Amino acid sequence: MLAIQVKNKVQTLLEVHNLKKHFPLQKGFIDNFLSKEKGFVRAVDDVSFFIKKGEVLGLVGESGCGKTTTGRLALRLLEPTSGDVLYKGSSIFSHSKKEMLKMRKKMQIIFQDPYASLSPRMAIGKAIAHPIVIHNKHNKAEVKEICLQIMEKVGLTPASFLYKKYPHQLSGGQRQRVVIARALVTNPEFVVADEPIAMADVAVRAMILELMVQLKEEFDLTYLFITHDLATCKYICDRVAIMYLGKIVEIGPLEEVFKNPIHPYTATLLEAVPVPDPKYRRTQPIPKGEIPSAINPPPGCRFHPRCPSAKAMCSTDEPDLREGSRVHWVACSL
Ligand SMILES: Nc1ncnc2c1ncn2[C@@H]1O[C@H](COP(=O)(O)OP(=O)(O)OP(=O)(O)O)[C@@H](O)[C@H]1O
Ligand SMILES: [Mg+2]
Repeated sequence: MLAIQVKNKVQTLLEVHNLKKHFPLQKGFIDNFLSKEKGFVRAVDDVSFFIKKGEVLGLVGESGCGKTTTGRLALRLLEPTSGDVLYKGSSIFSHSKKEMLKMRKKMQIIFQDPYASLSPRMAIGKAIAHPIVIHNKHNKAEVKEICLQIMEKVGLTPASFLYKKYPHQLSGGQRQRVVIARALVTNPEFVVADEPIAMADVAVRAMILELMVQLKEEFDLTYLFITHDLATCKYICDRVAIMYLGKIVEIGPLEEVFKNPIHPYTATLLEAVPVPDPKYRRTQPIPKGEIPSAINPPPGCRFHPRCPSAKAMCSTDEPDLREGSRVHWVACSL
């Protein structure tokens, strides 16, 4: 699939090939004694996609479908069970620790939870500067200068006043900006933005999203933009990948996926986007029940127990991603 999708290798920044991450289940002593069989959480189960330079790919899906795990694998913050990630054509898993440290400057992450990713005992200036301090290329005064500059860029102003503040002394929106500044301070090329607006209120969300678009232009960034909210993708993404229970079920250009969703799961996600029209009536039923466990995913199509259009074959045949149109791919037997 990927070979056909990747038309122009020169422009492709990141390629993900058949990536899997199966976390072993932690069992108690008695369970281990009674059963030798090892269970796994199939968090990411054969995922392939690519991102071209300057592009924003949205990775969308319900909680627990494996978005964060995919993002972490793409930056080698986790080792995969199998599969590969190529950055500018070379496998990131083949790099030594030293080479990887160098690569980290170019590949950064905005973590999902700004509360959890900032130390309460570290002043924000120090937290933002940390990624450049570990590379040990600048003296103290230069580090401070770079840090103040990036703080100004992300709207943490006046930077010289906020530099010495601690996370608890900032608002939620400001904390989110700190996490963005820390990701950008090394001047990266590729950023995994893991639900960067999920913890903020509506007004702050719009501002952070606008900031991310502006920073993308200014720093010539490429994003993997993770979100559970398909509507957000409209404002920032060029293409979207819809993920369900460890697999990508549909991927294509934003406009095509919005206008012509092929997978029933994508259609129901789109129906969940609120429409400000009291006369509007839902055309797609909401999927039944909750996302199943990633330990024992349903056989066949993983969405079939919740799918409003499921046929008998869906419970046995596992669909691969297939070409709906040249750039729009879908995994559905129907
Ligand atoms: N370190 C880990 N050890 C064991 N299981 C894990 C680990 N990290 C994630 N998982 C499991 O993998 C699955 C996918 O988790 P992940 O955090 O990638 O989902 P997500 O799509 O980012 O969800 P959310 O939208 O809630 O952030 C979940 O079932 C989760 O419990
Ligand atoms: Mg997550």
